[in-house]
Amino acid sequence: MPDEPAPDALTQLRWLRTPEGTAATARAAALLAEGADLLTGLARLRAEVGADHAGPAWELARLRARARPVFGADADVLFLTADTLEQAGRPALAARRAQRLLSGEVDSAVDLGCASGTDTVALARAGATVLAVDTDPLARELTAANAEALGVADRVWVVAGDAVELVDAARGGEVAGCAAAVLDPARRAGGRRQLDPDRWSPPWSTVTTLLDRAPHAVVKVAPGLDHERVPAGVEAEWVSAGGSIVEALLWGRAVSTVWRRASLVHGDDALELTAEADPGPAPSGPVRGWLHEPDPAVIRSGLVSLVAVDVGATLVDPTIAYLTADAATDSPWVSSYRVDEVLPFNLKKLRALLRTRGVGRVVVKKRGSAIEPETLARQLRGEGAGTATVVVTRVAGAPTALVCDVR
Ligand SMILES: C[S@@+](CC[C@H](N)C(=O)[O-])C[C@H]1O[C@@H](n2cnc3c(N)ncnc32)[C@H](O)[C@@H]1O
Repeated sequence: MPDEPAPDALTQLRWLRTPEGTAATARAAALLAEGADLLTGLARLRAEVGADHAGPAWELARLRARARPVFGADADVLFLTADTLEQAGRPALAARRAQRLLSGEVDSAVDLGCASGTDTVALARAGATVLAVDTDPLARELTAANAEALGVADRVWVVAGDAVELVDAARGGEVAGCAAAVLDPARRAGGRRQLDPDRWSPPWSTVTTLLDRAPHAVVKVAPGLDHERVPAGVEAEWVSAGGSIVEALLWGRAVSTVWRRASLVHGDDALELTAEADPGPAPSGPVRGWLHEPDPAVIRSGLVSLVAVDVGATLVDPTIAYLTADAATDSPWVSSYRVDEVLPFNLKKLRALLRTRGVGRVVVKKRGSAIEPETLARQLRGEGAGTATVVVTRVAGAPTALVCDVR
């Protein structure tokens, strides 16, 4: 387990939870809302609450303001550090996961690495009694503070514990006596992303042991996780919002219902695309009048061929996740571009073509090409008033530019 944190981090957090700390943080929030800069704000706070407390109160108010767009009104009472805020998942997604995990008879859950308690709170709000575990004392204090601040402390127990040991000791489908488990391994160390799952904390071996021993489990994994790693019988889900992957999940065997799931979340709504088994690759064919770019959740989950059938499309290349079809589509699973020109990729010829079409500004997209989109967009800039999207990719193996949506 890590050493005790610098005593002042824990001491400061405990002070921030007192009525004086609450008042100082409210004062800092008011100064921030008035637009006070760091120096002025801190000077005013120091004069009002003393030099020792001004910094922590200012920092907490600043983190709460940063958390507000994602955490909503909860952010105003949350206890956070810069680290735990960075590691925290979105509460709306944690709520969605908790709902699914707790369906059926399951009413207790262990949060194996609670950080500042986003999952703990979501599980408690979904009705479970929750055992929140972390090796880090500061994380435990934050989770206890947040469970209290958000009114779920009566259903939450926060304890020191090592997830590796708890998972190794799991028996009868339970972990630490709980019927369900959430594992969200730390995938950064020293500020750097750990690409190798064996270097996550807890490591990959704990992920697979958990999925083997706890049928009611969900594990948050890196979006780039190799499909080969997904154990048999375990559903893998990729979730996107606003065109980007926001999380990737592995579901325990009692919760898994399909092979893969792509979910597109928008506020409280989610669209889902699923496959019982690997649907295999989509066929490829020549570029037609429309280019349909699948949502990243579809691509990552290996479900491009389902969308291809749905929109009557083929791949532009067997190795590239761009679809092409004769018609536009209103499928929510793709972004579409009308193809105006297709030419072998060549900067001079591309520039000349754009000039003749009166295009002065382009947005460049790429897939399967080493070009740098911003650089190419600059190189293609011209005098014309028209705009276009230039897609640089491989078509049947050849570097190709697709000039789309010329306006
Ligand atoms: C990515 S964070 C969890 C974030 C949390 N689910 C949320 O959304 O706010 C991972 C947490 O696991 C804790 N952790 C890492 N290894 C652990 C272990 N072996 N046992 C218990 N906790 C561990 C870290 O201290 C950290 O707080």
